[in-house]
Amino acid sequence: MGRHIENHQPVIIRNLMVWLILLLSLLTLLAPFSVHAEYGDVVFNKRAEKAGVRPVIFPHWFHRIRYKCNVCHSEIGFKMRAGANDIFMANIKNGKFCGACHNNQIAWGAENCHLCHSGLPGLNSGIRGGDTTAGPGKW
Ligand code: HEC
Ligand code: HEC
Ligand code: HEC
Repeated sequence: MGRHIENHQPVIIRNLMVWLILLLSLLTLLAPFSVHAEYGDVVFNKRAEKAGVRPVIFPHWFHRIRYKCNVCHSEIGFKMRAGANDIFMANIKNGKFCGACHNNQIAWGAENCHLCHSGLPGLNSGIRGGDTTAGPGKW
């Protein structure tokens, strides 16, 4: 009897250990996916379509491999949440947001409407796609 009880406890502990290890490895596996949204394309359509132009596609991945995060998310001031930024065309023409670079000096300028306003009508704002982007006109 006493022997039976003695043997019982280690089994439970061993089971707990196995579950703990499984849980930890699962968390480690899932961790990279929690920052998944840094990839893909961002759709801006708070007011574009209402104002008669196509939604804007911002290829996040394309930019992310060229610049450090803090260039946009700190210096230029883009809030790090899809849909959190209120962007007007007038801001861009005044060198704010996208216009900090799309000014014909760092990159092509704001007169190239179709390169940014390339989304299919009806797209909602938010992140699209995974770790790839085909740039303008994909969505
Ligand atoms: C060229 C500018 C630029 C660079 C560089 C950049 N981002 Fe972004 N990021 C944006 C814009 C614009 C948005 C969309 C904001 C919006 O929808 O209002 C965004 C959105 C995000 C989001 C929100 C995603 C969501 O689903 O809400 C995350 C997270 C993010 N960026 C992380 C990063 C990280 C990490 C880096 C660097 C590795 C980075 N960004 C580099 C411009 C940039
Ligand atoms: C560098 C990228 C970029 C270029 C180039 C660009 N836009 Fe935009 N535009 C945006 C973004 C981002 C928004 C915000 C969209 C939203 O949130 O709905 C916007 C919004 C707009 C809006 C909505 C109303 C307003 O006043 O903001 C209109 C209209 C517009 N753009 C017209 C144009 C026209 C016309 C051109 C070419 C002369 C142009 N855009 C070029 C990025 C761009
Ligand atoms: C920190 C600088 C920077 C900011 C901010 C920035 N861009 Fe760009 N963007 C670039 C550069 C550089 C290129 C490459 C230009 C070239 O190929 O001549 C580019 C290219 C692009 C392209 C073409 C991608 C391709 O596949 O060729 C699109 C579309 C674009 N930007 C949209 C935007 C929009 C929309 C915003 C604002 C939400 C924005 N960009 C903000 C620097 C920037």
